[in-house]
Amino acid sequence: MTDSEHSGLFLVLEGIDGTGKSTHAKRLASYFSALGREVVLSREPTDGPWGKKLRDSATLGRLEPEQELEYFLRDRKEHVEQLIKPALAEGKVVILDRYYFSTMAYQGARGFDPQEIRRRNEEFAPQPDLLFLLDIDVDIALERIGSRGDTANQFEKRDALQRCRDIFLSLKEEPFVRVISAAGALDEIAHKMIDCLNDMK
Ligand code: TYD
Repeated sequence: MTDSEHSGLFLVLEGIDGTGKSTHAKRLASYFSALGREVVLSREPTDGPWGKKLRDSATLGRLEPEQELEYFLRDRKEHVEQLIKPALAEGKVVILDRYYFSTMAYQGARGFDPQEIRRRNEEFAPQPDLLFLLDIDVDIALERIGSRGDTANQFEKRDALQRCRDIFLSLKEEPFVRVISAAGALDEIAHKMIDCLNDMK
């Protein structure tokens, strides 16, 4: 994009669990590699120390809301400084599977104000050139991740995911956001993403 501060290309994939973000992130990475571009494919939470604590909490028990939010911010600060900014400055294509919009959605669903989360992140985290928001009905997403949503715990999960989806969709008017239905075939979705990239030029 012409008004970016960097010479690289910064692409982010977001969406609730079960939308196929990691599959499409890999496909995009292959697409740009085939064009001869240097690609950095990464994800959040990262494999760094804060990201590891967050991933461990998925099995060991969820962190308190404040602490969880703090860890996501620390993880992202390291990611931005150590990987994202340097790669963009070198003209690489950076593709992220989740970024601070996931914090708006998931920690927002946990009770924090999504706009305040956005503000705190944008103090240090650059906006992507393009954000692909892979969107799908919550019941289809739950089916895909093998959860039918018919126990009390799963009702809660369904409710939380619905709040996440709503927060993600609240971003749809932003100029850098492209909402793509994740309900179709993989190839169809991949084509739509490439069309969006071509329209940027
Ligand atoms: P996910 O990409 O689903 O990891 P995996 O590939 O291991 O399944 O991300 C893990 C979870 O972290 C996911 O449920 C969303 C959550 N998350 C947040 O709550 N806040 C954030 O800022 C990020 C980046 C992720």
